[in-house]
Amino acid sequence: MILLDGKATSQQIKAELKQQTDILIASGKRAPHLVAVLVGNNGASETYVAAKIKACEEVGFKSTLHRLPDTVSEQELLKLIQDMNSDEGLDGFIIQLPLPKHISEENILQAVDARKDVDGFHPQNVGRLTLGLPTFVSATPAGIMELLARYYVETAGKHCVVIGRSNIVGTPVSLLMSRNTQPGNATVTLCHSRTKNIEEIVRSADIVIAAIGKPEWVQGSWIKEGAVVIDVGITRMADASKKSGFRLAGDVHFESAAPRCSFITPVPGGVGPMTIVSLLKNTLKSYNKEVYP
Ligand code: GUN
Repeated sequence: MILLDGKATSQQIKAELKQQTDILIASGKRAPHLVAVLVGNNGASETYVAAKIKACEEVGFKSTLHRLPDTVSEQELLKLIQDMNSDEGLDGFIIQLPLPKHISEENILQAVDARKDVDGFHPQNVGRLTLGLPTFVSATPAGIMELLARYYVETAGKHCVVIGRSNIVGTPVSLLMSRNTQPGNATVTLCHSRTKNIEEIVRSADIVIAAIGKPEWVQGSWIKEGAVVIDVGITRMADASKKSGFRLAGDVHFESAAPRCSFITPVPGGVGPMTIVSLLKNTLKSYNKEVYP
């Protein structure tokens, strides 16, 4: 069994990004600039945004954090988005999700200029993904593909079972795994809450991508000998033995699954750090005007 070490891989990618940023600065250009908007004070969102800002610092990107109270109106948030859309000094911005209930996520995501949508959530960028056109691929699916690529995991002709059909992970990663690319060219089954016999389907998988947000739900006994497991889940579980009072659990029961796998991502330290560097890579792509020349 080989651990797909997202932490080490992300550090290598950050070193590559730092080298590219250093060259930009040395040649008199400005640094790429990412802006994050955090509404309210959801604990997990605070952690994710802090990690994104820290990663920007590590590679020499400029970053800005806009904090808004959870009482902010949709109009006020839309106004900030319009200002960021027309700000020449920033390359990309993200609105951390989830948003408070009184704000329409759909209205907010559609208001973002697709050219600055480094999260890849805008309908135009999602549409471009489905057509195989250059786009900002959302960070978690992009990070998964990069991890598979860097470990030379064979995907062509394999049966890939994706569990979860979210807009952010399950749906886009299904598309990416089925595309005529390397990694890709897999035969994809997308499972969700209404799927019958999930256990049986997972047993037939060469590659399992679990993104349902149910801690330790996929049992080791469901995993075929030699399968590849990508665990996107990251749920806080109460644990009195930890200083923080919680531990992080994936969607897969790691102890029972790992001995059966050829490759598996740990939680934490697997997909999570890859998501963050993919956001940085999208920011550099925007800076270089690679998607929309
Ligand atoms: N919430 C959970 N994942 C993400 C993400 O990748 N981007 C944003 N903006 N919010 C999230």
